[in-house]
Amino acid sequence: MFLNVFEVFLVFLTCTCATIFTSVWRMQRAAEVEASMREMLRNYVMQSDVMELQVPDSIRSFLDELDSLVDLTSRENYLENPIDAFDFIRRRSTTWKEVETIMNCDECELNPPRKKYIEDMEMLMSRTQELNVTQDDAEHAAIALVRLWRTYHLNLTELFRGRVSNTTTQPLAAEDIFFITNTLSERGDLYAEITWLQQLMASLKEDEDLWSDTVLRRRAVNMLTSAYSRYGMPWKSVDLLANELQKEYSKSVERDLKYYSMKVQEAEKSSENITLQDSITPRESHRMKLCRGEGLRDVSVTSRLYCLYRQVTTPYHRVKEEILNLKPRISLLYNLISDEEIEQFKELAVIRMKESRVSSSMSTVRDVRVSETAWMADTVDPLIKRLGMRIQMITGLNVMQHLLPCADSESFQETPLLSFGPLPEEQSKGYPLYDLLCGERTATWIYYLSNVQAGGNTVFTLLNITVPVVKGGAAFWYNIDRAGVHDHWTEHAGCPVLIGSKWISNKWIRETGQVLKRTCGKNMNALDGPL
Ligand SMILES: *[C@@H]1O[C@H](CO)[C@@H](O)[C@H](O)[C@H]1NC(C)=O
Ligand SMILES: *[C@@H]1O[C@H](CO)[C@@H](O)[C@H](O)[C@H]1NC(C)=O
Ligand SMILES: *[C@@H]1O[C@H](CO)[C@@H](O)[C@H](O)[C@H]1NC(C)=O
Ligand SMILES: *[C@@H]1O[C@H](CO)[C@@H](O)[C@H](O)[C@H]1NC(C)=O
Ligand SMILES: *[C@@H]1O[C@H](CO)[C@@H](O)[C@H](O)[C@H]1NC(C)=O
Repeated sequence: MFLNVFEVFLVFLTCTCATIFTSVWRMQRAAEVEASMREMLRNYVMQSDVMELQVPDSIRSFLDELDSLVDLTSRENYLENPIDAFDFIRRRSTTWKEVETIMNCDECELNPPRKKYIEDMEMLMSRTQELNVTQDDAEHAAIALVRLWRTYHLNLTELFRGRVSNTTTQPLAAEDIFFITNTLSERGDLYAEITWLQQLMASLKEDEDLWSDTVLRRRAVNMLTSAYSRYGMPWKSVDLLANELQKEYSKSVERDLKYYSMKVQEAEKSSENITLQDSITPRESHRMKLCRGEGLRDVSVTSRLYCLYRQVTTPYHRVKEEILNLKPRISLLYNLISDEEIEQFKELAVIRMKESRVSSSMSTVRDVRVSETAWMADTVDPLIKRLGMRIQMITGLNVMQHLLPCADSESFQETPLLSFGPLPEEQSKGYPLYDLLCGERTATWIYYLSNVQAGGNTVFTLLNITVPVVKGGAAFWYNIDRAGVHDHWTEHAGCPVLIGSKWISNKWIRETGQVLKRTCGKNMNALDGPL
């Protein structure tokens, strides 16, 4: 009896859902903090000069470096480029840390300018704690940059020169590359480590000054030597060291050469045939292909696809729909949200992101700057309700929230760099009670709230479909077929953003509330035809 009542009760509930990945947004705020830090450092140097106090050379040169970057860092879309984003995170987490150490040194005289700097800095840091950038962030950023290189087959020569896709920014510094290869080494990604170091050697060779910088060159040689050896190619190490010995004699190089020559002798004969090969799984490789937009579907399938003006529940109104797949039906709908609505939506999301920053970053420590959840309940603003109503009008499904405090509406932004590869676009899993009350996800709706310059597609890994990001549009599909069975063909993932900033808003339409809205088919294989 109780159960029955419960069920009837549930019929009147609807569960809809929304998350915000902020990254560019958050990093841009961190960049503003850096601008303040730069001002403080400048003040310190100026005041010290006025009072004729000594300023460490390294501080002066760092300040010069920061000044030379001002044109870049004050750009509005700064950090939408993965190289800039990586460089920024590394600078904030390591170089600034060194500045802090220098400024706080125990033996140094605590003169007034220094004192002021330290105090101001402490205040700024305590005010902006959530924008703290750590070594861990920098390592993740390094891995993410490598992942972009792998996913999109970026030309490494070009990447080192600061060119990605067809945009150009500052080149990667040798220091940046060492940081990346060190991180790769720690993670045991030997293929990437060796490839990046080989490219570094090639880049150094091209530049007369860099190539004659013994310290720099030898650092690269040593890292590469060790990496080759760990990969099982000690003869490569021997070649490298022999060349280095020719270029400039050194006892330690000679010693290393002897050591690796011995290793070559010890090595098994069969190991001579080892070649450098990437070890990504076929599954990953397949997803990357889709992310690059390589058409993997047969013409016999794609030739049957079409576009239409879709009927909606409001008479006389039509919506542009592109059918991306027939069974299960996957659609891309166009021109649903105006730019003004998008701006307003983002503002609402940003307010909520600010409010929820602490708890959200704690939930996913390693993705601190990738995912922040902003629950967007219908009651937040009439706009949210209106966008929900729009889905209802187009799909005929019940998407409005009534009684449950539903967590099923997520909006998020992704950055180029910090979207770590295959991000499942559905993040809010694992609410057992919620699932019990609301039922399965009947359908998924994704509003696209920005265009992305490169990357950021949504891919269906089993159906071989690549869905581009279309600002103002939406993707829609059912996760359950007409027979009521979960449709595994709808497995999908988000591709990392290469350049730009991706904002999307998800709405998951739950089973509960869809009684009589989407009926069973007449048979097991019934399709969702056009309305
Ligand atoms: C930033 O984070 C690091 C590592 O978690 C911590 O050691 C440091 O004290 C933090 N800095 C501030 C100003 O909170
Ligand atoms: C990468 O770019 C460099 C410089 O533009 C070019 O010489 C090289 O052929 C490119 N490599 C590949 C694999 O396309
Ligand atoms: C970059 O390349 C894409 C296609 O490869 C092109 O559509 C776009 O207009 C280019 N952008 C610029 C700024 O040249
Ligand atoms: C290396 O490969 C070649 C050609 O594939 C083969 O003839 C040779 O036996 C291999 N060497 C060893 C030691 O396995
Ligand atoms: C998707 O692509 C893979 C690899 O090319 C292929 O084996 C598979 O049959 C394709 N699936 C569909 C549904 O086209």
